[in-house]
Amino acid sequence: MVMKNPEYIIKLENVTAGYLITPPGIRSLIKTRYIVLKNINLSVNKSERIAIVGSSGSGKTTLLKVILGLLKPFSGRVFIYEYDIYRLPWRERVKILKKIGYVPQDPFKSLNPMLRVKDILREPLEAHVIRGYKESKIESKVKSIVKLVGLPEKVLEMYPEELSGGMRQRVLIARALVSEPEVLILDEPTSALDVSVQAQIINLINDIYEQFKPAILLVTHDLSIAQYIADRIIVIENKEIVEEGLIDNVLSNPQSHFMKMAVSSYKDNKNKLKLEF
Ligand SMILES: Nc1ncnc2c1ncn2[C@@H]1O[C@H](COP(=O)(O)OP(=O)(O)OP(=O)(O)O)[C@@H](O)[C@H]1O
Ligand SMILES: [Mg+2]
Repeated sequence: MVMKNPEYIIKLENVTAGYLITPPGIRSLIKTRYIVLKNINLSVNKSERIAIVGSSGSGKTTLLKVILGLLKPFSGRVFIYEYDIYRLPWRERVKILKKIGYVPQDPFKSLNPMLRVKDILREPLEAHVIRGYKESKIESKVKSIVKLVGLPEKVLEMYPEELSGGMRQRVLIARALVSEPEVLILDEPTSALDVSVQAQIINLINDIYEQFKPAILLVTHDLSIAQYIADRIIVIENKEIVEEGLIDNVLSNPQSHFMKMAVSSYKDNKNKLKLEF
């Protein structure tokens, strides 16, 4: 199976995924499948920016876990380039997954409180990314990445609890970028932040895109953010992709129930939005 230079970076084929859950009561030894996503087909091309929207609990984070090699689907296949990741030995899988940088949903819960920022940022480098990196090179890489995300160097000596929400989000973005990923996945990167800070983070994401042109997968419930960042939008409802297309087309002519509702409240609120990007 050698496909040279496929156009996509990520491709999901007929993915059905969810969790094994233990029903309450005496039968608790028997695990049952709780299906969250059904027959998902999706591809992400080089440098493409995609927004994923859907109501709370519709499976957006679950979809990201599947893409990140963290949750094996019940059926279907997940490719990163030509590699069927869940069929690769763990070590190989980890190597391929380095191409994806991940900014998890909650900046307050996602950083190890015991580590200084410099160690949080060194971790991916030391773990596997660039073995044989000299100490001085790791240090300069960490410094440059902190600068890139707009943080002052003194932050390197600080612990997460000393940082504001916006700064933590920048640290998470920096951590996702140290391995020089070709895909950047962001799960609701602004929902825990104040409006003014939201705009800064959105601008940062766009700056990063202009500089490195990674593909971007952005989960958001905010259509203004989706419109500002993404080229394409994917809508998940009732476990399935119910709508997808170029974002301007979908916003001007929504088809699914979810998008019709979302677009109408978006238009109502648009004038009220104070975000200045
Ligand atoms: N580890 C888990 N075990 C069992 N069920 C889970 C687990 N994680 C999530 N779920 C369930 O899977 C469904 C989808 O959850 P998911 O977190 O993917 O939704 P989401 O679209 O990201 O929601 P939100 O917008 O609130 O972040 C929900 O019903 C959730 O309760
Ligand atoms: Mg989620």
